[in-house]
Amino acid sequence: MEKTIEQIKEEALDELKTASDIETIKALSVLYLGRKGLVTQFLRDISKLPQEKRPGAGKQANKVKKILDTAFKEAIELLKKEAAETDDHIDVSLPGRAVAQGSLHPITQINRQIFEIFTKLGFDIAEGPEVETDYYNFEALNIPKNHPARDMQDTFYISDNIILRTQTSPMQVRVMEKQKPPVRIIAPGKVYRCDSDLTHTPMFHQVEGLLVDENISFGDLKGILNTFIHQIFDTQTSLRFRPSFFPFTEPSAEVDILCVICRGKGCRVCSHTGWLEVLGCGMVHPVIFENIGYDTSRYTGFAFGMGVERIAMLKYGIDDIRKFFENDLRFLRQF
Ligand code: PHE
Repeated sequence: MEKTIEQIKEEALDELKTASDIETIKALSVLYLGRKGLVTQFLRDISKLPQEKRPGAGKQANKVKKILDTAFKEAIELLKKEAAETDDHIDVSLPGRAVAQGSLHPITQINRQIFEIFTKLGFDIAEGPEVETDYYNFEALNIPKNHPARDMQDTFYISDNIILRTQTSPMQVRVMEKQKPPVRIIAPGKVYRCDSDLTHTPMFHQVEGLLVDENISFGDLKGILNTFIHQIFDTQTSLRFRPSFFPFTEPSAEVDILCVICRGKGCRVCSHTGWLEVLGCGMVHPVIFENIGYDTSRYTGFAFGMGVERIAMLKYGIDDIRKFFENDLRFLRQF
């Protein structure tokens, strides 16, 4: 044997010291401890030694084999650990990740403002079905079958008697059926009409209002709507009541506000009239009270209905209603 087992050990440990990656250490392990490795070779050659030297040499060689084996394994573990630590290293100079923050849809925002104004005025909020019967949407509101007023609303029919509500007005009837006067509610919700262009979408939102009590006059209606319009737009906004027709109110009116764009001078948005229509309203028709069983000699009331998208469009100067439903983030982020 040319080299002693001690020499082999020293050489192996020296080489290990210069090994800087796992692959090199594995190669060293093969070189010394593998099937044809130097230590293995040495152990095999022990049989060639004189009888009396064999046990000592064997013992020593096995000890070296164990030492080297442990040394290689520990060196590999150390490198693995170091690698894992550098992976987790945090570079505090890197810019942070921005957390994207959502915001409320403009229609939700306007809806909430409307709720707040009316609940402060003492109104409760009532909700009802979007899939409605012909009776509540039309008949009970003094719009019999074949009445020309049905033409005003392009109805989605589910069956002859089941429809998607075209207005929130059926909530007037549903609330009054359950409740004796005084009644003071708003009824917000989705409504559906088969119509689609710059200012119409097949689904949009309305808020209905209903107030019934003794001695309620058109003056009360004007007072409530004045307060509402001034709060949702601003106190400078003037409004006017224009005679109109709804089968379930008498008299009926439409409310216009001074054009938010041109302030009455006349522009494209108000079709050069200086005014913008915002809602429909009127005194509840006595026929509706009779259908429900309210005493018409004792009670009077008013109702109004507004389109939420319309209010939002006027308030924010949006010219295409479809923008509300396209979910384009560039649009939504502005609110
Ligand atoms: N429901 C009517 C519409 O959709 C609005 C309205 C409500 C008018 C209440 C008068 C009273 O056009």
